[in-house]
Amino acid sequence: MPHRRRRIVSTAVLATALSAAAALTVAAAPATSASAAPAAPVRHSGGPPAASQSYNGQALTPPMGWNDWYQYGCNVTQADVLANAQALVSSGLARLGYKYVNLDDCWMAPTRAADGSLQADPTTFPNGIAWLATQLHHMGLKLGVYESFGVTTCQGRPGSYGHYQQDADTFASWGVDFVKFDYCGLPPGGVTSASLEADYQQMSQDLVATGRPIVYSQELPIAAGDANPSNANYLPYIAYSSEIANMWRVAPDLTTNFDSTIFGHLAADLPLASYAHPGAWNDLDMLLTGNTSYNWTVQQQETQMSIWAEMASPLIDSSDLSSMTAATKEILGNKAVVAVDQDPLGKQGQLVAAQNGVDVVAKPLADGDVAVLLANTASTPEQVSTTAQAAGLPHAGAYTVQDLWAHTTRETAGTITATVPAESALLYRVAPARAPAASRYAPLTNVSVSPDVPALYTGSQFAVAQPGQTISVPATFLNDGREPVTRASLALTGPSGWVTGTPVSARIVGTGGELDGNWQVTVPAGTAAGSYTLTATASYGWGPRRTGSAADQASVVVDVPPTGMPYLDQLSWLSAENGFGPVGIDENYYGGPLTIHGVVYAHGLWVNSVATLYYYLGGNCTQFTADLGLDDSDKGTGAVVYEFYADGTQVYDSGVVTNSTPTIQASVNVTGAQVLELYVGEGNGTINYGNADFGSPQLTCNS
Ligand code: GLA
Repeated sequence: MPHRRRRIVSTAVLATALSAAAALTVAAAPATSASAAPAAPVRHSGGPPAASQSYNGQALTPPMGWNDWYQYGCNVTQADVLANAQALVSSGLARLGYKYVNLDDCWMAPTRAADGSLQADPTTFPNGIAWLATQLHHMGLKLGVYESFGVTTCQGRPGSYGHYQQDADTFASWGVDFVKFDYCGLPPGGVTSASLEADYQQMSQDLVATGRPIVYSQELPIAAGDANPSNANYLPYIAYSSEIANMWRVAPDLTTNFDSTIFGHLAADLPLASYAHPGAWNDLDMLLTGNTSYNWTVQQQETQMSIWAEMASPLIDSSDLSSMTAATKEILGNKAVVAVDQDPLGKQGQLVAAQNGVDVVAKPLADGDVAVLLANTASTPEQVSTTAQAAGLPHAGAYTVQDLWAHTTRETAGTITATVPAESALLYRVAPARAPAASRYAPLTNVSVSPDVPALYTGSQFAVAQPGQTISVPATFLNDGREPVTRASLALTGPSGWVTGTPVSARIVGTGGELDGNWQVTVPAGTAAGSYTLTATASYGWGPRRTGSAADQASVVVDVPPTGMPYLDQLSWLSAENGFGPVGIDENYYGGPLTIHGVVYAHGLWVNSVATLYYYLGGNCTQFTADLGLDDSDKGTGAVVYEFYADGTQVYDSGVVTNSTPTIQASVNVTGAQVLELYVGEGNGTINYGNADFGSPQLTCNS
């Protein structure tokens, strides 16, 4: 299979990535701090963290607040900042800890003043930064500003290079409480790993020297080439950052692709747990709760917040809070989740197991509880089972398991089984309990259902049923509770006419016991293509006379093979991932017609590398043809490569395609294939404008 790990950037980060890649001349030799030991272990004392653990006494818990960048970009104004600050206060979020109001790039004027000092952009921040700080302080909030270590910021405003102490003093005199120090605008002489470390440390010291308490946040680890952990400088930079800064970015900017960006950041952060401690935090970048350009679902936003809290990352939201929805307020305002993040013990979650694509992460808390994160990186719901002991809890007769989003508390004898939705996370707070006390709570139970739809070909991620097909659907009910459950019954339901068979039942299901059923499900002839839901539901009794239930849902994808000579824009794909924005159907990213070298295509697709599209052929087609080339709207230095696969076997490779490559007429034999995969990768190995078209992409199929 081709490159499965996609690297995806938005155009907003392009400039940073390119400038970083182009000018970086960092020596490969590990920096002096390479051998720096991770922070000394914190004693599980339960008391408040000692300020001495923080190099500057700041950020004893991860900083919380707001930043303008992902919502406003370079257009942010003083009025926007004040409106968001008001919202933090009136919503009660400030009281919960969201106190830092951070200006990102572009707050400063395009040039420094005559004496070399920074000044606010006169158009967007007419009253200046000192005034703004006073306003925020009166509201009980704090002010953060942004700068870069280099000669310019990422947006080309004046950088701090050559002005570190002057800028630190300016910030202190304005009443600034937080400084984010980016990695952009490399100085003309280039940099080495030693010079970079010296620069970031210099700013750290210059801020301390002002005498004002200022949180120092920086992006040194990003300098090591896209924060790639395989880069020799990456870990040394993390180690070094943990000694000189309160927080440091561990991964590139967030992209619009939820799955790769959120789970990619988690994967990057998991090995870094030992560097986090009170005063020093691995920074996963901002929360996008409520952000209207990203528009993640509630489940996705809860997942991000769960991961950030488990990993003790700063919680700095980037959205328009002045128009926040009830959902945004509820997510950011989830006290139990915030408490996990802000736990005074200051431990970051650590990976204790990985099962079925689910990461089991445990974060010890000051009161002896453990926050357990179950993060499912897979594109299907997955069942996972762990134990209180694996999570680091001491032996106990029973445990309570608090679901921090569902707001339920259950008891378990020790095993914790859960079905985690696709590309989502669950967050539990687990505590030892005395057995009698635990029996007040309903037992922790779980249902899982997994239709046995065969994969379309060996190794395919797609399982598709056809109308008329009969599949078996096993389901299981489990009792993890210390208490037995009684009169248990497990039933399967689905669309009308699909399910045959009756519920299964058991008089009693004890600790660790299960109840299994298996149903025959027939997709009726004539069923339209689509996704259909099956639900397995268990109901049972517990305690003297309480009742409980648990359920799980699974979807069955039904598809019908194409016939005749359809263009791909007329078909639905099995799945599509695009490097930036949605796949364009009959239009390019900008809404214009698909055009390759002046030829306009009425039928076609626009993608941005790296993109992967899968189409269901059902063995019914013989040929695929398309015109290939970069869209004429791409005036950049785009370079892509097109690769096609029939049931996982490569059937086409375009080689590198740039703006000057003549239009390619591709024609491939797809006889008998179940699935056609169209992959568009980066042609020159760099993040770049790869705006690639498929002109008149057409299948030849049996009727
Ligand atoms: C970089 C940083 C972002 C943001 C922008 C501003 O990309 O990583 O967080 O500060 O610069 O230009």
